[in-house]
Amino acid sequence: MFLPLSASLASSPVAMAGNRTMHAVQYDTYGGGPAGLKHVDVPVPSPKKDEVLLKLEATSLNPIDWKMQTGMLRLLLRHKFPYIPGEVIGVGSEVKDFKAGDKVVAFLTPHTGGGLAEFAVAKESLTVRRPPEVSAAEGAGLPVAGLTAHQALTQSAGIKLDGSGKETNILITAASGGVGHYAVQLAKLGNTHVTATCGARNIEFVKSLGADEVLDYKTPDGAALKSPSGRKYDAVIHCASAMPWSTFEPNLSSNGKVIDITPGPRALLTFALGKLTFSKKQLVPLLLIAKKENLDFLIELVKEGKLKTVIDSKHPLSKAEEAWAKSIDGHATGKIIVEP
Ligand SMILES: NC(=O)c1ccc[n+]([C@@H]2O[C@H](COP(=O)([O-])OP(=O)(O)OC[C@H]3O[C@@H](n4cnc5c(N)ncnc54)[C@H](OP(=O)(O)O)[C@@H]3O)[C@@H](O)[C@H]2O)c1
Repeated sequence: MFLPLSASLASSPVAMAGNRTMHAVQYDTYGGGPAGLKHVDVPVPSPKKDEVLLKLEATSLNPIDWKMQTGMLRLLLRHKFPYIPGEVIGVGSEVKDFKAGDKVVAFLTPHTGGGLAEFAVAKESLTVRRPPEVSAAEGAGLPVAGLTAHQALTQSAGIKLDGSGKETNILITAASGGVGHYAVQLAKLGNTHVTATCGARNIEFVKSLGADEVLDYKTPDGAALKSPSGRKYDAVIHCASAMPWSTFEPNLSSNGKVIDITPGPRALLTFALGKLTFSKKQLVPLLLIAKKENLDFLIELVKEGKLKTVIDSKHPLSKAEEAWAKSIDGHATGKIIVEP
């Protein structure tokens, strides 16, 4: 369904944006890190027939944002320059079948980006309503990090989040990060025992999310991913950077799976070898496929107080470089938020 914005929402803030320009942050070549970001005034984007125009209230950064800027994903995810990053999220007011003034959360595709700006367009098919109980920043964390945690647990690891299903031992690495902190909370909605890894400073934090046991990744047992209670993992939601298969293998149950959300060449080789040899222990690469119904489900959990977005830091759009640098640094606890 499509309602042309300019006609249907004549009195809305979005429609009033009309031929105006907006402040945005973009880059026009690969590389450069935070210094490669430019503050520009560009026309407010026009929604295509299946898109909604959003006035952004909060955007969250994800590692994929700066990884795309480095060019490392250029074979996988092509985008035209100049590129306004933030393929991740948009949280805004109004639009569409969605009426003017509605609060929403949207997943912005990596191909178009658009999150570091005052306005952005999003596919209606990836836009959901945001109830008043969920703040813009809390909503903004969900579209990439929350959906990735949800997909890894439900689709890849087969965990039922209503608590049914047999007890499953799960390891979540980098449990303090954007994806990991959602994964711990969601996993505990299922019938699971959760072991988690994080840095020493975040051990109490990760316990507070519900983890049953927590390992400091800088200790020998933490680096070896060894469960303090001697459990073997049925599933590992691997959110930390690459680790050799030989680190995972001795810790897995006989049918254990490692769901690798950042699969590099070695992980893909392990995946292929596992298939060729019919190995019961498997590495499963994950690529997020965003689904509206799953985003709705997560928003509902936040509304009910069963899931929270922990905010590492908030940065104004005028200082987007600081948020960018923080994401590159790789030490966020929860989500990095940018607010226009
Ligand atoms: N496949 C997909 O579709 C998909 C989707 C989303 C994300 N991803 C990828 O998933 C990865 C994680 O994303 P994210 O947003 O969660 O990252 P993030 O928020 O930047 O993660 C930062 C956290 O990781 C912790 N950490 C770093 N190395 C660790 C280690 N070896 N062991 C335990 N904890 C460690 C850090 O703790 P300290 O500060 O204590 O070091 C920090 O709290 C990224 O590579 C991202 O690109 C992939």
